[in-house]
Amino acid sequence: MKKLICVLLVVVFALSLVACGDVGKQGKKDFIGIILPTKEESRWLNDQKYFEEYFKGMNYEILFSQNNSATEKTNVETFISKGAKVIVLCAYDAAAAASAVNEASKEGITVISYDRLIMGTDKLDYYVTFDSCSVGKAQADYLVEKAGSEKGINLYMYSGALTDNNSVLFFEGAWKVLQPKIADGTFVVRNCEKAIQFKDKNNLTREEMVSIMQTIDSEWNMERCKSLAEANLTAAGDKGKGKVYVLGPADDDCCRALSDAFLADPKVTELKITGADGVEASVQYIIDGKQSMTVYKDTQALVKATKQIIEALQKGEKPKTDTVYNNDAKDVPTIQADVVTVTADNIAEIFFESGVYDGSKYTGWK
Ligand code: GAL
Repeated sequence: MKKLICVLLVVVFALSLVACGDVGKQGKKDFIGIILPTKEESRWLNDQKYFEEYFKGMNYEILFSQNNSATEKTNVETFISKGAKVIVLCAYDAAAAASAVNEASKEGITVISYDRLIMGTDKLDYYVTFDSCSVGKAQADYLVEKAGSEKGINLYMYSGALTDNNSVLFFEGAWKVLQPKIADGTFVVRNCEKAIQFKDKNNLTREEMVSIMQTIDSEWNMERCKSLAEANLTAAGDKGKGKVYVLGPADDDCCRALSDAFLADPKVTELKITGADGVEASVQYIIDGKQSMTVYKDTQALVKATKQIIEALQKGEKPKTDTVYNNDAKDVPTIQADVVTVTADNIAEIFFESGVYDGSKYTGWK
């Protein structure tokens, strides 16, 4: 009798595993390796939080690459050796990560590029991302709207890290909107000779954009932002102060570092500065007017999209995607999420009333 009960239990257990739908050949749930770029930037801690929430019950592990290509490669190799079925990789270096993707692909692992597109490999399977061009566009739209019909406003521009393909997309989205306003004298660029050189050209090639960005590369690093801003203000002198508009490099941490540096100069009397991500540390800055806006990326959307792809694969189905991104080697099937502009005017609605952040922790927003 005991034996029979045992056998029955084993059968029930086995059936329950099959019913889960995400069980590999070894009877274990498919292992998923997730690699994020760094713990030093607030953005990625949000992504980590949501992976932990939405991937509960799945067999996964998260590693960080500390903004280092060699560590990133080791992380991929670790997951290959652990028998990962899927690797979700948010690359520190878009080009360098290609060889790790190729290695993983040789082992039959599906690779999903997360948030940042991995360039130059036809072995990449999927991409989940926000619409990065629209992030840059939203930032520039804000500055142009605030400028109104005024002319001669000082403009400082900063780009994301050149290692990151998103930086080009952010810049492209912003440039398309800002360029006519630089050409007509609304803005006077104070920190970037290269941008002035291209002031009459709206459709820049990738090389032209990169040549501008090279001179204003924030490297996604707060210290670097501070020193760039200080050097730019010194070089611009008094004529570049007073009313100042800043195109931040599409990252709230960088935006706050730049804002602190600009506001530390007593000759800067008015500051409009753009951020992106919608991280918690920027909430009070936005309320206080030290950061004028952010472009909110609800990272839950990316995590859910990643999960949707993985679950489809586990069921043997073709994952649904909505567009493609070309990575210089192939058109990568992509799920793309939307972004929302947040200012002091709608922060209560977008962040507090919806429960993204706890409004009672902040002062001055009512
Ligand atoms: C980008 C990302 C942004 C921002 C930045 C710095 O690739 O899309 O949301 O966080 O990196 O880490």
